[in-house]
Amino acid sequence: MRKKVTVVGAGNVGATTAQRLYERGYMDVVLVDVVEGMPQGKALDIQESGPVLGVDASITGTNGYDESADSDVVVVTAGVARKPGMSRDDLLFTNMRIVGAVVQEAVKRSPDAVLVVVSNPLDAMVQHAYGVAGFPKERVVGMAGVLDTARFRTFLADELGVSVRDVQAYVLGGHGDQMVPLVKHTTVGGVSIGELLSAERLEAVIKRTQGGGGEIVALLKTGSAFYAPSAATAEMVDAILLDQKRQLPCAALLEGEYGIDGVYMGVPVILGAGGVERVVELELTAAEREALDRSADGVRELVEAMANAPAA
Ligand code: NAI
Ligand code: 2OP
Repeated sequence: MRKKVTVVGAGNVGATTAQRLYERGYMDVVLVDVVEGMPQGKALDIQESGPVLGVDASITGTNGYDESADSDVVVVTAGVARKPGMSRDDLLFTNMRIVGAVVQEAVKRSPDAVLVVVSNPLDAMVQHAYGVAGFPKERVVGMAGVLDTARFRTFLADELGVSVRDVQAYVLGGHGDQMVPLVKHTTVGGVSIGELLSAERLEAVIKRTQGGGGEIVALLKTGSAFYAPSAATAEMVDAILLDQKRQLPCAALLEGEYGIDGVYMGVPVILGAGGVERVVELELTAAEREALDRSADGVRELVEAMANAPAA
C-alpha cells in the first residue's frame, strides 16, 4: 500500500505542495479546502497529468476530512497569507482559529500521523496545533527553517558564483525578521564563509535572507511565496515518509535545548519516520545565542497573545 498524505488548504502553498508530492509517485495525496469545487478541480487537474508523467498514485480533492483518514502525514497550509504592508504576525488570530479547527478534524481521522504545519505566523501556529492535536511533541513540526535556509543558500551561491549544492548553512530561530543565520556553520565546500565573503557582503546577504518573504510579497502584491515553500515542505514529507533521518532546520518544541523552554522554534532536528526524532544542539557564538533568545521572546509574545485572543 502507498503512503498517504493529506494537505489542508488548497491555495498557493497547498496546491503546489500537493502537486510536488503527487509527482514523486510513491504516495497518495488528499487535498482539502473549504472552497467548494476548488480542491476537487485542482486535484483532478493534477491527476490528469499522471499519464504524461507516468505517475499511478491517486490525488483526491475534497471539502471534508473523511477521505483523509489514516494519513501518514498531514500538512496544514490553511489560513490567510500576507499582503503588502502586513507582517506574518498580523495573521495571528485569524489563522489560529483556522489552524485549530483544521487540526481538530484532521487528527480525529489520522491519530498516528505526523503534523507538518506551514501556516503563519509559523512558530505560533505550530505551537497552537500541538496544543489542539494532543499528539506527542515529536509528531508536530513546523516548516520554515528549510525555506529560510534555502533562501540564504540561494543568495550566497549567487554572490559567490558557486553551486547551491555546495553551500551548507543553517537559519534557526523563529520564522520572522529575527531569524538567525548561523555564520560559523556556513561553509562552501568545507571552507568557512568568512574566508570567502567580506563582512559587509555577508551582512547584506543576511539582511536579504531575513526579509526574503517580504521581498516576494512586495513583488507579487497579491500574496506570498509558494514555490520555494512547497519545495521545502515536500523535502520534510520525504524525510518522514522515507525515514531518511535528515538533519533539517525545523520548528520543534524546545524543552531546555539551547537553554529555551516551552516554545516551538527553528532548530536543527533529525527528521524521520517518528517525526522529530531528536533536536541537534550546535555550538553557537554568544551573539547567535542572544539572537536565538530574542527570537524565542518574539515567539513567546505571540503565544501569550493567543492565550488572550479576543472572542471570534
Ligand atoms: P492561500 O490564500 O493561497 O491559501 C490558503 C487556503 O486556505 C485557501 O485556499 C483557503 O480557502 C484555505 N482555507 C482557509 N480556511 C480554511 C479552513 N478552515 N479549512 C481548509 N482550508 C481553509 O495562501 P498560501 O499562499 O497558500 O499560504 C498559506 C499559509 O501558509 C499562509 O498562512 C502563509 O502565510 C503561510 N506560509 C508559510 C510559509 C512558511 O515558511 N511557514 C511560507 C509560505 C506561506
Ligand atoms: C515566506 O517566508 C510568507 O512566510 C512566508 O515567504
